[in-house]
Amino acid sequence: MVSDAPFLVGVTGASGVEYARRLIEILGDRAEVILTKDAQAVIEIETGLSTKEFAASARAVYREDDLAAGPASGSRLFRAFAIIPCSGTTLAKIATGIADNLVTRAAAVALKENRKLILVPREAPLSAIALENMLKLARLGVVILPASPGFYGQPKRIGDLVDFVVARVLDHLGVEHAIGSRWTGPE
Ligand SMILES: Cc1cc2nc3c(=O)[nH]c(=O)nc-3n(C[C@H](O)[C@H](O)[C@H](O)COP(=O)(O)O)c2cc1C
Repeated sequence: MVSDAPFLVGVTGASGVEYARRLIEILGDRAEVILTKDAQAVIEIETGLSTKEFAASARAVYREDDLAAGPASGSRLFRAFAIIPCSGTTLAKIATGIADNLVTRAAAVALKENRKLILVPREAPLSAIALENMLKLARLGVVILPASPGFYGQPKRIGDLVDFVVARVLDHLGVEHAIGSRWTGPE
């Protein structure tokens, strides 16, 4: 894999877009971002930021209907694809092979090209349908990494909880970082 190939970050219309904002901030111009239409609505509701402000440091920002963009083709390299947060709708589409927007198409590319795909679902409780979709994808090697922060690092701020999840995503992307707390054993 070419080392300057981007990391793809897909943002969908689930709650928790702050996880994506923080990931994009850390990846900086190593990130190419794809926003669904519903993600744009949730970004507005949860952050009040414009999409430009939300992904200011990214190398490129694509809309979901831009199916001619680079990430739609397997010939265009990307290092890994994290969908954060990942809605139940996008999860279901990926699990059933529907590639009707740039997020789901790039996920289909990741699957067919055997590239790392990380999904960060945010839903509670989970229906049997969502659980089956996750199991199906996990068996294909997809990393299912729920937005479920741990509390053993004694978080003080919302940002600490966000960083806990983003740190796990960065670990799976293979990106060195110094955020979040790592368990070092009991005192
Ligand atoms: C404010 C808001 C919060 C939402 N939160 C979630 C959520 O946490 N998880 C989820 O799966 N869907 C959530 N949804 C519903 C999705 O936006 C909806 O299922 C949509 O079809 C997702 O489309 P997309 O995956 O193309 O972005 C939320 C919708 C809104 C408006």
